[in-house]
Amino acid sequence: MDASIRNATVMDDTRILELINSHAAKGLMLSKTPYKIYCNIQSFFVAEDSNGKIIGCAALSVMWKDVAEVTSLAVDNDYFGKGVGKALVEKCIERARALKIEKLIALTYQDKFFERLGFKLFDKDAFPRKLWRECLECPKLEMCDEKGYMYIL
Ligand SMILES: CC(C)(COP(=O)(O)OP(=O)(O)OC[C@H]1O[C@@H](n2cnc3c(N)ncnc32)[C@H](O)[C@@H]1OP(=O)(O)O)[C@@H](O)C(=O)NCCC(=O)NCCS
Repeated sequence: MDASIRNATVMDDTRILELINSHAAKGLMLSKTPYKIYCNIQSFFVAEDSNGKIIGCAALSVMWKDVAEVTSLAVDNDYFGKGVGKALVEKCIERARALKIEKLIALTYQDKFFERLGFKLFDKDAFPRKLWRECLECPKLEMCDEKGYMYIL
């Protein structure tokens, strides 16, 4: 399926929240508030189908000079397995390269997906904790059971 990926606008807020929070309700990712979306809207990409329906989103969150994180990656259930998630992560990779960032990371339960895209497992506990800003909002914080995946650019 050919999803087109574009920069998000503030008009995409409701749909981005729907996508993220529907998966967050199943414990697959962190939930987001409208405030968080507006603050970070410039980091967001959305995927559209040929009718202009938003079927996925992702954000590139710069953590430090050398590293950025893929966050808020969410695809509409009806469009799983059609390359939408891959297209979104590839867009994050492209943006990270343009920013001259060296490493892209993801904290995730989606091992196979990230492995398929060339990410490698890494020891997330070896990363300075102050960099994990998103984690400060996570109820699991010290008991994180997500795996860390890294892609060297
Ligand atoms: C993870 C997620 C973004 C994947 O999106 P998707 O559009 O279904 O994935 P794609 O179709 O682009 O898959 C790309 C590749 O990964 C593989 N893949 C995707 N999910 C997989 C899974 N759960 N198990 C095994 N392989 C998987 C696909 O088969 C495909 O492989 P291919 O290139 O050989 O065809 C989507 O399932 C999702 O939104 N999940 C819920 C929210 C979530 O967990 N987000 C991640 C937070 S870090």
